[in-house]
Amino acid sequence: MTSGAIRELVSGGKQRMGVLEAIRTRRSIGKVAAKRPPREAIEEIIEAATWAPNHRLTEPWRFFVLAGDARREFGEVMAARRREEGDAEAAAKTAAKPLRAPVVIAVAVEPVVGPKVVEIEEVTAGAAAVQNMLLAAHALGLGAIWRTGAPTYDPAVKAFFGLGPSAHLLGFVYLGYPDTIVPQRARRPVAEVTRWLGWTEVGNGGDEAVVTPIRATDV
Ligand SMILES: Cc1cc2nc3c(=O)[nH]c(=O)nc-3n(C[C@H](O)[C@H](O)[C@H](O)COP(=O)(O)O)c2cc1C
Repeated sequence: MTSGAIRELVSGGKQRMGVLEAIRTRRSIGKVAAKRPPREAIEEIIEAATWAPNHRLTEPWRFFVLAGDARREFGEVMAARRREEGDAEAAAKTAAKPLRAPVVIAVAVEPVVGPKVVEIEEVTAGAAAVQNMLLAAHALGLGAIWRTGAPTYDPAVKAFFGLGPSAHLLGFVYLGYPDTIVPQRARRPVAEVTRWLGWTEVGNGGDEAVVTPIRATDV
């Protein structure tokens, strides 16, 4: 099924959304309907994740799709620590968390170990993959939010997914049909967060710079 067909299936939308528009208009949406989006849409979202940049092509990301009763089981695993601590109220609250959306995708990174592989780069590649997921969901007309919290860093939660101690859980992407007005959020202006170094205006913005030639095979 093509992306256009999936978008139409999900949201009835025929209109394509440009990348810049998707980036600007995407918002974290936590309130979604109970109806589960089609599997094709979830596959499209995960495929978008796998196109994220990753150094040395390690593709360190792993995805775990939770739907139906698997969300309940996962909720219990997340709540186990609270239950052990004797906090029944907090445990019940935590256990119910994955039920806030019909689909929850846990995203993890299993860093490749190698002489040239830098672990933080494996994690940052995973973060890029999650952003691709959020953008793909938005472009398809779905609501999504990246959630973390203490269970993200709980070894028992990692073990539930069969992940070893060296893996990093990056969080959980909650997905569904939006059931809320898209929240308004602001960002600091570019000028406030950017320093320009060596940028001189000579022509009309398309000035030539010295670049070192590289071979087509260099990455
Ligand atoms: C690593 C990470 C963890 C996050 N964890 C949570 C979370 O646990 N709960 C939550 O409501 N939002 C979480 N968010 C979403 C942020 O709250 C949200 O991106 C921020 O408020 C900006 O809103 P926007 O995404 O609509 O622009 C997380 C975002 C990131 C990048």
